[in-house]
Amino acid sequence: MTETILLDRPAERVARITLDRPRVLNALNLRTMQEITAATSELDGDPDVGAIILTGSAKAFAAGADIKEMAPQSFGDVHAADWLGGWEALSRVRTPLVAAVAGYALGGGCELAMMCDLLLAADTAKFGQPEITLGVLPGMGGSQRLTRAIGKAKAMDLILTGRTMDAEEAERAGLVSRIVPADALSEETVSTASKIASMSKPAVMLAKEAVHRAFETSLSEGLLFERRLFHSTFATHDQKEGMTAFIEKRPPEFRHR
Ligand code: CAA
Repeated sequence: MTETILLDRPAERVARITLDRPRVLNALNLRTMQEITAATSELDGDPDVGAIILTGSAKAFAAGADIKEMAPQSFGDVHAADWLGGWEALSRVRTPLVAAVAGYALGGGCELAMMCDLLLAADTAKFGQPEITLGVLPGMGGSQRLTRAIGKAKAMDLILTGRTMDAEEAERAGLVSRIVPADALSEETVSTASKIASMSKPAVMLAKEAVHRAFETSLSEGLLFERRLFHSTFATHDQKEGMTAFIEKRPPEFRHR
């Protein structure tokens, strides 16, 4: 039974996780971390799930890590517990994660959205890393993923001043995949996730792995890795089906194997 998130299946092969701590603008506490990582890991192992949506409310995707939970902790506490380290489990999820962000995505909320593979933003979305205003710095990947996503100049601006950026600035900077009118966010996200989930699952998983590898390796190693993954798809039913369907001018019937 989950306390801080809701789970549903809004479309065929699509699962959705909705943050549900409205009174604290979906602040992320330890329990939320455990529930999200457990849910994503279980959904990742489900062959009937081809994409996972992560979303919040109209007012807040998430306003950051839970400040009231963190405030009394000592260095010894957070260091011994490797505080926030559990979020790394999201990096091991091989099914695409689609973030649907409306309202505040601040601190850990922005960092959680950046752990996803696609980021759809409502025109109401506000992104920022305000940790500096609390006397700390980002701890769930902000200094690393934000810098890779939008470059040093803007990452420094956001992280050192704590200012927020709106959806348009975030899209221009390369943080956001698409901006959608707020009242269309849910529908657009479900249809995007459905589209991904309708593709061959092994091809989708390999493509996700290939893009992530771009951040971890040299260009020549990355190109070789991509080419070998491309070769490996020729061992799947779905490669034969996808190419045959194209030649026969009909939609493919992927088996996701
Ligand atoms: N943690 C705990 N509670 C939070 C919270 C957070 N990150 N953000 C908001 N809340 C709570 C507020 O304390 C308030 O609760 P009470 O009614 O009990 O006082 C409730 O949510 C509503 O918030 P506000 O009254 O502040 O709402 P607002 O509309 O006036 O302001 C806001 C909205 C600008 C987002 C403001 O709430 C805010 O600045 N929140 C904190 C943002 C922040 O600093 N995030 C970074 C956290 S640290 C972090 O994330 C570390 C990391 O890297 C992982």
